[in-house]
Amino acid sequence: METKLINQPFEQVQADALVLVVYEDQAAPTEIGQLSAWLEEMKSSGEFSGKAGELLVRHEPAGLTARRLALVGGGKKESFDSAGLRKAAGSAVRALKQKGVKKLAFWLAGGDAGAAVEGAILGNFDPDEHKTSSDAKPLESFIAVGGTAEAFERGRILGESQNFTRELVNQPANLLAPLTLAAKAEAMAKEFGLECEILDQDRMRQLGMGALLGVAQGSAEPPALIILRYKPASPSKDHLGLVGKGVTFDTGGVSIKPADGMEKMKYDMAGGAAMIGAIRAIAQLKPALTVTAFIPAVENMVGSRAQRPGDIVKSLGGKTIEVLNTDAEGRLILIDALTYAQREGCTHLVDAATLTGAIVVALGYVNIGAFTNNDSMLQRVMTAAKAEGEKMWHMPLDDEYKELLKSPFADLANIGGRWGGSISAAWFLREFVGETPWVHLDIAGTAWNEETKPFIAKGPTGVGVRTFVRLATEW
Ligand code: BES
Ligand code: ZN
Ligand code: ZN
Repeated sequence: METKLINQPFEQVQADALVLVVYEDQAAPTEIGQLSAWLEEMKSSGEFSGKAGELLVRHEPAGLTARRLALVGGGKKESFDSAGLRKAAGSAVRALKQKGVKKLAFWLAGGDAGAAVEGAILGNFDPDEHKTSSDAKPLESFIAVGGTAEAFERGRILGESQNFTRELVNQPANLLAPLTLAAKAEAMAKEFGLECEILDQDRMRQLGMGALLGVAQGSAEPPALIILRYKPASPSKDHLGLVGKGVTFDTGGVSIKPADGMEKMKYDMAGGAAMIGAIRAIAQLKPALTVTAFIPAVENMVGSRAQRPGDIVKSLGGKTIEVLNTDAEGRLILIDALTYAQREGCTHLVDAATLTGAIVVALGYVNIGAFTNNDSMLQRVMTAAKAEGEKMWHMPLDDEYKELLKSPFADLANIGGRWGGSISAAWFLREFVGETPWVHLDIAGTAWNEETKPFIAKGPTGVGVRTFVRLATEW
């Protein structure tokens, strides 16, 4: 989709539809002039109230150049923020493209052009890439009317990068194995001037990444550790490491998952894909901070070479692990990547992973679960998340939970039992980051939309991308 920012009077905007936000507790906006009587009538008859996500369309609106005037509900004026604007733009795009609109203009009236273009780009995405005939009718062009060029450009980059992540997550595992993900990351790096290095199986053996390799050994698809480096013009004191779980498919291994819903486990690389999308945007926005993304990519399969429950593996950090459950594979690949990130000089770490079903039990589909060994680091991440409208909830990591990971046979067990499962998983990671300020984000409940919403399609959400970019740019 082509995106553009213009400045033009309301009556002169040329488009298939010109969209304007209307609030439930405000009088008709002055821009619509003589059409305000019509809007008041729609409101009093109950056809349109201005609640968030509602849409009202008028063809051949008198006095306007645009072919349609579309009013999108913004809810209450006072609580309408950038997140509300992002959703309003997304809802307008999703509803109007279904009506055949190709060129959509959005009247900003002093609002945030960044949030509007993000919402439009995100709303224009449908997970239908592999349908040979689809009923989704994407927009061809989105025009923001008003707002600053800087905000608009940032929003365009963010929206496109988040969709890049969603495209990766949307690929089924037969079309996206670890090496395919690596190749896509490499091509992206080339396009945006990032350094890319791929550690292959032999290299990881030499290094001693036994935890990662134990997970990978059951698959015919070789693993990869994908490394993407962004370097600012002058080197920074701090070095942010973004580590993302890249399990291209999670059968559970020998501790196999139930068949029902297993197909969804193609999204078990959503954390890795979020880091790839984030650094794609960072490469374009060029903050003054060194940022490196590390994506351990593996496929967790069953077979004669697969790792068994009870196997003991040695991690890159040197600790031994008893693999009590082969389905707790995410933590095994992440610890070797976290250790490697520290050896590469990262002073601060953030990881994102579809790590546990337990986080979905705790927080549902709304909040990311956030864990840390350093409250001020968490504050930075939460501030960035809030500004980007991505919800996070601080989860506990008391010492008592650490006891759950004791093993009589190795330094650690890879599971801590049923209760508090996302906390013992986070503790497992924490055992490998030492004192380095670190935030772990469990995105199992937020990386996939179970149902289409007015502003966003069913399927991959691309959660995390905007937060990580803001974290880097506001560092
Ligand atoms: N990828 C899953 C976690 C998951 C579950 C993500 C549901 C999205 C939706 C992870 O590898 C896993 O299988 N975790 C196990 C851990 C358990 C064996 C301790 C889980 O959550 O059941
Ligand atoms: Zn698993
Ligand atoms: Zn998994």
